[in-house]
Amino acid sequence: MKGNAKIGFTAEAAALIRAQEGVDKYSKYFVTSRVKRTYSFYSALLSKKYFDSVFRRRAALSKDVKSLIILQKPAQVIELGCGYSTLGLDLTVKNKSLKFIETDMENVVKIKKPIIEEIIKKEKLKVNKNYILMNLDVLKDDILSSLADKIDLNKKTLIFSEGVTPYFSDAEYDRYIENIKHFMKKCRNCTLLIHERPLDKKKSMTPGLKGHIIKAATRIILRSKTKSHFNNYDNMKRYFHGKGFSHFKLAKDSNGTLLFVAKI
Ligand SMILES: C[S@@+](CC[C@H](N)C(=O)[O-])C[C@H]1O[C@@H](n2cnc3c(N)ncnc32)[C@H](O)[C@@H]1O
Repeated sequence: MKGNAKIGFTAEAAALIRAQEGVDKYSKYFVTSRVKRTYSFYSALLSKKYFDSVFRRRAALSKDVKSLIILQKPAQVIELGCGYSTLGLDLTVKNKSLKFIETDMENVVKIKKPIIEEIIKKEKLKVNKNYILMNLDVLKDDILSSLADKIDLNKKTLIFSEGVTPYFSDAEYDRYIENIKHFMKKCRNCTLLIHERPLDKKKSMTPGLKGHIIKAATRIILRSKTKSHFNNYDNMKRYFHGKGFSHFKLAKDSNGTLLFVAKI
């Protein structure tokens, strides 16, 4: 599995976690037999307990991201690398005046669109034009110009991604932040929501050889190597201050994953 297919699989794994952990009503529509088979195989072979704890932690992140978005009360939300998350659908169905723009790579959006249409039909949802799902490669496309005709730069806005940046190299992470910063310089009432696990880069949930084997298997399941971009909180704060984010603060500790809000 290479490139886009590899990336798409991580989105399927996130949907499986949310469905299994009962985070929302709609993730089940995105769970394929491929991801179920892979999960069953590795959890039986290695440690179901370990995978369950990873699942719980990841599901807690989804719940906390959602509650922080609601707490911020934005008029517009932009999700980068939305994958098969159904948060935008859920929030816009409940709040008709909220605009929610979900974005991801073309191959993911192509698969997601018809499944969203199926959910709307089966669940008899009333969806208005404030729910938008569109292509956007955060490393190649300019966020500001891509969203120019969809967003009101004067409205209170929140921009975020969930579970995307751990798959980026440090150089890609920097490009991603520069792209967001360029957007936020024009959209002044915009808050960036980010998450990191900066404090436990070297820690393993299971120590020793078993920990290494489990880590390797997780990589195989997700077909990807995930990483933290910062050794500690101070490094992260320094990085964001250096980028011109004057308001940078910790918003929540979600089971060891730290959530931050930043403004320019
Ligand atoms: C682990 S999934 C998480 C998806 C979703 N945020 C969730 O929580 O379910 C990572 C997502 O990042 C997306 N992604 C990776 N690189 C990207 C890029 N350069 N531009 C936009 N999306 C990207 C992938 O397509 C994938 O959907």
